[in-house]
Amino acid sequence: MAATITTPRLMAIGGGALAELPVLLSRLGLARPLVVTDPYIAGCGILDRVTALLDKAQVPWSVFSDTVADPTSAVIDTGVTMLTAGDFDSLVAVGGGSSIDTAKGMSVMFANGGRMRDWKVPNDIPKIGLPIVAIPTTAGTGSEVTRFTVVTDTETDEKMLIAGLACCPAAAIVDFELTLTMPLRLTADTGIDSLTHAIEAYVSRRASPYTDGLAKNAMGLIARNIRTACAEPTHRAAREAMMLGATTAGMAFSNASVALVHGMSRPIGAFFHVPHGLSNAMLLPEITAFSAPAALDRYADCARAMGVAEEGEGSQSAVARLLDELRRLNDDLKVPSPKAYGIDRSRYDELLPVMASQAIASGSPANNPRVPSNEEIIELYRRVYE
Ligand SMILES: [Fe+2]
Repeated sequence: MAATITTPRLMAIGGGALAELPVLLSRLGLARPLVVTDPYIAGCGILDRVTALLDKAQVPWSVFSDTVADPTSAVIDTGVTMLTAGDFDSLVAVGGGSSIDTAKGMSVMFANGGRMRDWKVPNDIPKIGLPIVAIPTTAGTGSEVTRFTVVTDTETDEKMLIAGLACCPAAAIVDFELTLTMPLRLTADTGIDSLTHAIEAYVSRRASPYTDGLAKNAMGLIARNIRTACAEPTHRAAREAMMLGATTAGMAFSNASVALVHGMSRPIGAFFHVPHGLSNAMLLPEITAFSAPAALDRYADCARAMGVAEEGEGSQSAVARLLDELRRLNDDLKVPSPKAYGIDRSRYDELLPVMASQAIASGSPANNPRVPSNEEIIELYRRVYE
């Protein structure tokens, strides 16, 4: 079966790539952007650099800087009101995955109306909205190149997956220099998120030869550099590798989908406000152990790509090394269990049926090499708690 691939039309990748923003806008025929960002980026100097570039190129701009971590449908509605009131022809999203995902939600709602939940998977999004130029300031979500956005429904607390061409940015600017000041926790969490993207894209039932190459490349870059990027924040080579790894993993999972880890991670994030990368990290070793018997050779390839198993090593032994490495990585990066994070046991137990049904409804578990039953998902949630 042919693989259908979605990617941005233009990308500028490398240190200093931010300076290409006016050129990218002009090449796409865009002249009146609304810049979408969060209060941190608005205050730390990065937004000033973006607007200075636009001013210098005589591009008029406005800023919507009210995006929040784990974007909500309410924030997107506010952004759409601003979008509708102005005369904008594009969105420039600057920030982590949340800012980029907010811009995607705004673009979808601006063109299609309705409510955000009308466009969650498996529903099709009929119209493509305003083009987005995505400028990530973290090395993690890969949202700058994906056809997904994740939005929390303000009324139900559900973390909804929204997918389609309408969510894929027209252009991405991938400049690792924007990540040199990322704090340790954010570097670790977003780094494990991107490693999870690469592993899940590779073992996904929707993987293709095209996504396999991207995923293995990303695993090698991330696994070999994540500890250095955490320990030495200004290590340029490690930061560059992490950024490239995150974007490459994004291109892989955008076209191969993620699987059980992400499916189970979203409800933990939604109900207990655990950062996305951290909830993935809490799940990754156990879910890998659960899934590996169904795709031993594929997981063994992951171990080899990450450099923790030899090329000629048998699959069983390579997978054992992969599990060791994922557990060690969580230890080294101080990833807490849900219990150690402070999640109340009785509340967690009480929500397990809802969390399991939301996980299944997202569609991601169906891409897993071993597709779990509802009961197995609940059991896995129990297993990772401590
Ligand atoms: Fe993710």
